[in-house]
Amino acid sequence: MESLIQSVLDLKGSSQVIVGITLNNEELKTSIENLPKLDATIIDVGDQAFQLLDKLIIRQARLSEFPLLKDFLYEAIFVPYGNTPPSKQILLESGISAYIDNFGEKESDICYVAKKDGDIIGMAWVRICGSYGYVDDQTPELAISIRPEHRSKGIGTKLLSNLLSYLKDKGYKQTSLSVQKSNPAVRLYKRLGYKIVKESEKDFLMIKYL
Ligand SMILES: CC(C)(COP(=O)(O)OP(=O)(O)OC[C@H]1O[C@@H](n2cnc3c(N)ncnc32)[C@H](O)[C@@H]1OP(=O)(O)O)[C@@H](O)C(=O)NCCC(=O)NCCS
Repeated sequence: MESLIQSVLDLKGSSQVIVGITLNNEELKTSIENLPKLDATIIDVGDQAFQLLDKLIIRQARLSEFPLLKDFLYEAIFVPYGNTPPSKQILLESGISAYIDNFGEKESDICYVAKKDGDIIGMAWVRICGSYGYVDDQTPELAISIRPEHRSKGIGTKLLSNLLSYLKDKGYKQTSLSVQKSNPAVRLYKRLGYKIVKESEKDFLMIKYL
């Protein structure tokens, strides 16, 4: 418990925002609420105490972080097991670059980051861009990736959940995505409520109704 409070104090010195800490424990809740000038948004997220202990921060991306989208877009391109990863030139293809070109210019450009120990380790973003996940001109398309060494630890779920809540609050009715059928990410999307609305030989088009 003392180490948890120390974590809060450590974070206080940073310019980051804590988006989730556990408030299940009444003693802990009182201690944290009594910390002087705690610069944090506190949301009850049940049993996710490790979010704070590991200093995982989920928040909206800053303008200065948009250039990182290029790296995360490359990471988001699914490479089936045994296949050679594509050259980075693939990022120049119009269907791919549509996800990030001049990101921040459109109202529908919304991006969340996962930050751990000072590094951005994941990005999830949407924009209305008429690309592979196109449904209509009101539906933002999703892209997401987590750095390989941080995958399968629940970070993608948290990142995406936060982004989806934000989109709902902003009044969006749905968000869509395109995913290769063989990408294990399909399971994550289904768990978070995405439905398959169309399929081609290799891909699913999925929609999450907000
Ligand atoms: C998809 C991704 C963002 C999920 O983030 P994560 O932190 O690994 O996900 P979580 O730990 O919250 O949830 C685990 C789920 O993620 C998915 N996942 C895990 N590792 C994955 C990987 N290497 N590739 C694709 N999806 C993966 C699976 O659906 C998994 O569910 P399962 O445990 O039932 O198999 C992340 O794994 C990733 O960046 N994958 C590579 C890029 C990619 O495929 N992006 C989606 C393009 S449509």
